[in-house]
Amino acid sequence: MGALDGRVAIITGGARGQGAAEGRRFRAEGAVVYLTDVLVAEGAAVAAEIGATFLEHDVTDVDQWKVVVEHVLAEAGRIDILVNNAGVLHWATMTETTLDAWNRVVAINQTGVFLGMQAVAPAMKAQQSGNIINISSVAAYSGSGPCFAYGATKWAVRGMTKGAAQELGPFGIRVNSVHPGVIDTPMMAGTPLEQMGGGVPLRRYASADEVAGLVCWLASDESAYATGAEFVLDGGMTA
Ligand SMILES: NC(=O)c1ccc[n+]([C@@H]2O[C@H](COP(=O)([O-])OP(=O)(O)OC[C@H]3O[C@@H](n4cnc5c(N)ncnc54)[C@H](O)[C@@H]3O)[C@@H](O)[C@H]2O)c1
Repeated sequence: MGALDGRVAIITGGARGQGAAEGRRFRAEGAVVYLTDVLVAEGAAVAAEIGATFLEHDVTDVDQWKVVVEHVLAEAGRIDILVNNAGVLHWATMTETTLDAWNRVVAINQTGVFLGMQAVAPAMKAQQSGNIINISSVAAYSGSGPCFAYGATKWAVRGMTKGAAQELGPFGIRVNSVHPGVIDTPMMAGTPLEQMGGGVPLRRYASADEVAGLVCWLASDESAYATGAEFVLDGGMTA
């Protein structure tokens, strides 16, 4: 018996990296998985490989969120888990950040998470159960000088998670945030470990599978009393 047997999950940004690893792990634990992403070919290939469904989806678009939720409800009848994982990194300091870049990073990393929580909340409230996992970052714990807009959005995700947990807890819906350190995915390709804030005590990147293990635990009943909480997985980076 899997930890997520029969649970219906939506994972955004599921075409590669951590989202794909979470999809694979969720499938292995028995979940019905919907991967969404703007990368259509990659997303469809991962979904076919792991036995999930792929939906083309830009998390910044409120109408596309509606379509995704309606599709999943029509097909699977419920939504048990939402992993708001889609995100983009942008290297620029505060003074270097253009308004266009700022708006793009905020739209994907912050507004996308807000829209996702809002989109699934009615179905989860009707079920009187649900589980939302927002992927933030260790960038939510200090100033992110070299990637200013990214850091700002990850602080926002940390805060939004708590506000949503307060509102949705009485309906049996949990909302938690996950704070990865440096994870070996396409997002970090080409970024030397030494560049990441004084190094990592464990002296290595985490694999996407290691994050997927934590996210899977949060999605399962093993973590049933955790909500509004922050889960750091960073090899000691913030110690
Ligand atoms: N890699 C790291 O070191 C690290 C550290 C901390 C937090 N994170 C966070 O983890 C999450 C996953 O990142 P990853 O490391 O797997 O990176 P990744 O770049 O491999 O994957 C991100 C995915 O999000 C998708 N995406 C981007 N914009 C989108 C949009 N508008 N709509 C839908 N999908 C979109 C991308 O196409 C991609 O498939 C992100 O939120 C990221 O900020 C990553």
